[in-house]
Amino acid sequence: MRYVSARDLKPGMILSSNLYDDNEKILLKSNTVLTQPYINRILMHDFDGAYIFEKDDINTARQIVSNETRIKAINKLKKLDINACQFLANSIVNEVQNAESLIIEQITLSSYDNYTYIHSVNVDVLSVIIGIGMGLRNEELELLSQAALMHDIGKCDVPIEIINKPSKLSQEELTVMKKHPEYGLIRLRDKVKQDGEDVAAVVKNAVYSHHENWDGSGYPRGLEGEKIHKFARIIHVADVYDALTSKRAYKDSMNPADAIEYIMANSGTMFDREVASTFIKYVAPYPAGCRVLLSTGQQGTILENHPKQLSRPKIKLESGSVLDLMKKLDVTILQILNN
Ligand SMILES: [Fe+2]
Repeated sequence: MRYVSARDLKPGMILSSNLYDDNEKILLKSNTVLTQPYINRILMHDFDGAYIFEKDDINTARQIVSNETRIKAINKLKKLDINACQFLANSIVNEVQNAESLIIEQITLSSYDNYTYIHSVNVDVLSVIIGIGMGLRNEELELLSQAALMHDIGKCDVPIEIINKPSKLSQEELTVMKKHPEYGLIRLRDKVKQDGEDVAAVVKNAVYSHHENWDGSGYPRGLEGEKIHKFARIIHVADVYDALTSKRAYKDSMNPADAIEYIMANSGTMFDREVASTFIKYVAPYPAGCRVLLSTGQQGTILENHPKQLSRPKIKLESGSVLDLMKKLDVTILQILNN
């Protein structure tokens, strides 16, 4: 399935999840074939977009968090509804805890204009998984989830031309972009003035610090090591991984194996080693369905990953036979093939 922004929806597309209005009433049901009046209704309710079925969805990898929750979170982020985001962040923890497996095997390609929101939800799910792997308690997971979901909320105060610029940012534009953690902190801090309810201090701290690097080379404060809050260190890994594997107007997506390599290569400098080593236990370098080249010269498609040994999946070869790399230790995967 694919996330399509509201203005790109076309009659004939099929919804792959329910859409709810602001009062939590079903607006359109999953499997609805879109017509122009339905699309008008989606636009009228100011939805950012919807998940749509695609032809090759029969073997879609299982979902860790439902599309319904994803859509709700995307729309609440768009509307800057911090209360609703906090509530949804807690639902996301719940769904992740109840998922049958926490292995991330999906490559979601985001379209450009709604990138920030989808990215925020992906970062949230991955952060919660890492948090579970690091043994965080339930209350901590909920706060981590809130911070991860809203980590880029300050981007709403960065001019849209800079956010959506299809090429490299100039030095001046980069300086403005780098203010988004601070803007995010201000947004969360100001919430108490609106409804009297404060956002937890650790959530504000993590949002403010999600671009700090372990070695002190990050921003905005250049904090080092454990002076950076643990939640921010987790979000940082999840954020960079999702950004690398996403396609943007100015860059192609990196495949999961290469992006994992990047995270590990920068472990101890950009990233906290403990976070990076927990992260690799949950993210499959070779997701089911991707084509690979083997050291034997054969090509094949990843059939299934072994949850405890993600670098040694089962592969369906072109001949039709299945090769289990756990049983064939002399064979290695050389690379992911793009077509
Ligand atoms: Fe950010």
